[in-house]
Amino acid sequence: MPDFAVFEPLARGVRDAAVGVRTARADDAAAVAAVAATRGGPGLDVHRRLPGWVDDAERRVLVAEVGGAVVGWAMAGAWGRPGAQDGPHVTALTVHPEHRRRGVGDQLLAALTGWAWGRSDRMWSVVNARNEASVALHERRGFVLEGWIADYAGMTFDGGRGVLLRAARPADVVEEGP
Ligand SMILES: CC(C)(COP(=O)(O)OP(=O)(O)OC[C@H]1O[C@@H](n2cnc3c(N)ncnc32)[C@H](O)[C@@H]1OP(=O)(O)O)[C@@H](O)C(=O)NCCC(=O)NCCS
Repeated sequence: MPDFAVFEPLARGVRDAAVGVRTARADDAAAVAAVAATRGGPGLDVHRRLPGWVDDAERRVLVAEVGGAVVGWAMAGAWGRPGAQDGPHVTALTVHPEHRRRGVGDQLLAALTGWAWGRSDRMWSVVNARNEASVALHERRGFVLEGWIADYAGMTFDGGRGVLLRAARPADVVEEGP
């Protein structure tokens, strides 16, 4: 079962000014795998697959660092399965539990949307309906509910229900191309 953050809508996070976001490298594989493992569930075999993902020009893989240590990661790219929406999807977004609610997830998501607007006027994210913390984070970055879903291109949800979220490229963003 995945470990979602506890939904605390009445709390307010404090931004960590020491957080930096950069493109992931193949040699981040172990550190990214450690952060990914905090999410629980079956996992994506991150350690083995990350070097291929960072070499994929159609994908954006990011890490967030504090003092040289990887504390979060996120990835975007096409979903790549029949039945999915066209355009980039947020496909991984995880912040180490000890660094949550300090703006790390928001910085990662902002960087992914910035990348997406260079290639698409839509960006998608598929979230377990019980993951209210993630939905709140996405809403703050302009994602809106496209629909409730029982599966997405063959993927089902722990608890049985997910949400498809959609963001639109803001009008004041100039398309730069890939
Ligand atoms: C969801 C997740 C990525 C959020 O990362 P984060 O770095 O803690 O989020 P941020 O500090 O950037 O939060 C930005 C905003 O999102 C919302 N938010 C984030 N976590 C929240 C929580 N637990 N409860 C309520 N709102 C939350 C708030 O509006 C927050 O702003 P605020 O702190 O000023 O109120 C993190 O909790 C996580 O890794 N969870 C486990 C993995 C996961 O569920 N990933 C998403 C899969 S789609």
